[in-house]
Amino acid sequence: MHDLTAAPSHSDHNLFRSDVVDGLSCLQKTIPYRWLYDERGSDLFEEITRLEEYYPTRAETAILRARQPELREFAGPGPILIEYGAGAGVKTELMLGSLAEPRGYVPIDVAHEYLLQTAHRMERRFRSLWVRPVERDFLSAFEMPTDIPAGRRVGFFSGSTIGNLDAAEAEAFLLQMLRHVGPDGAAIVGVDLVKQVETLLRAYDDSEGVTAQFNLNLLARINRELGGDFHLDRFRHVARWNDSERAVEMHLISLTDQWASIGQRRFHFGEGETICTESSRKYDHERLGALAERAGWRVSQAWEDDKRLFSVFALSPRAARSPR
Ligand code: AVI
Repeated sequence: MHDLTAAPSHSDHNLFRSDVVDGLSCLQKTIPYRWLYDERGSDLFEEITRLEEYYPTRAETAILRARQPELREFAGPGPILIEYGAGAGVKTELMLGSLAEPRGYVPIDVAHEYLLQTAHRMERRFRSLWVRPVERDFLSAFEMPTDIPAGRRVGFFSGSTIGNLDAAEAEAFLLQMLRHVGPDGAAIVGVDLVKQVETLLRAYDDSEGVTAQFNLNLLARINRELGGDFHLDRFRHVARWNDSERAVEMHLISLTDQWASIGQRRFHFGEGETICTESSRKYDHERLGALAERAGWRVSQAWEDDKRLFSVFALSPRAARSPR
């Protein structure tokens, strides 16, 4: 395996500080969701994916398992899988196992440990696979390594992470993925679907309180890394459905009128005021198709689980030289 290409671009302390300070200075206090994922946050997220109430991981895995022949056919022989946000790589193995003699695997993630673990595991599991981890924020602009072997490039963006991106970010992301895979490439994108609000809210406010810990860990991280003095017991996790955005939002609600400091900066929280820490947008086929089109893709196929909770989209470049 090759060395990692570049230093992580967003785990930078100053960027974290300015994102938090700027976000807490807005009328609706907001902290970008990416800061949820320090080591503890990434571990808690992995725990969330195993929860009964958090259906997206199970539903997506079931689709990938049921559609192995179609995925194999769609990707074609000897593909290079480029995975955006590789995480713990559970679905990666399933995907690579579905493909016809995959030639290469390029996992992209800022979570250093997960990235290396996944890369090593895939290397051991698929003996002749060329593996090149790229330690980057997949939302930043970057180039693919120049020594990727020849073969059809297939982008893989699972877990409905696309739902955490706003419209402009999602479009920019899909455009970049198209640039990375080229006009002969393809993409597989997992997307959570709009459904009953109760089901959605349960998935983001589980009975064991793991999602609450995941959310509150952001304040613990601010205290740890930025010298904040947040009292975690004076905030509570809430999940809310934003109907106009079609998104489940995670908030931290202030249980009392209080102040908190980060270095010299002080922030006031009224009782009941919230910090929005994540939006998880839900799509239907039409809206995902329209988004894909704006970014130069077309939907070749879409598969759902039997409860129609989740969908996996097979995308092809609109200007593909040999449409499949
Ligand atoms: C990573 N992402 C797609 C998850 C989601 O569903 O938006 C993060 C998450 N937040 C709370 N639970 C899971």
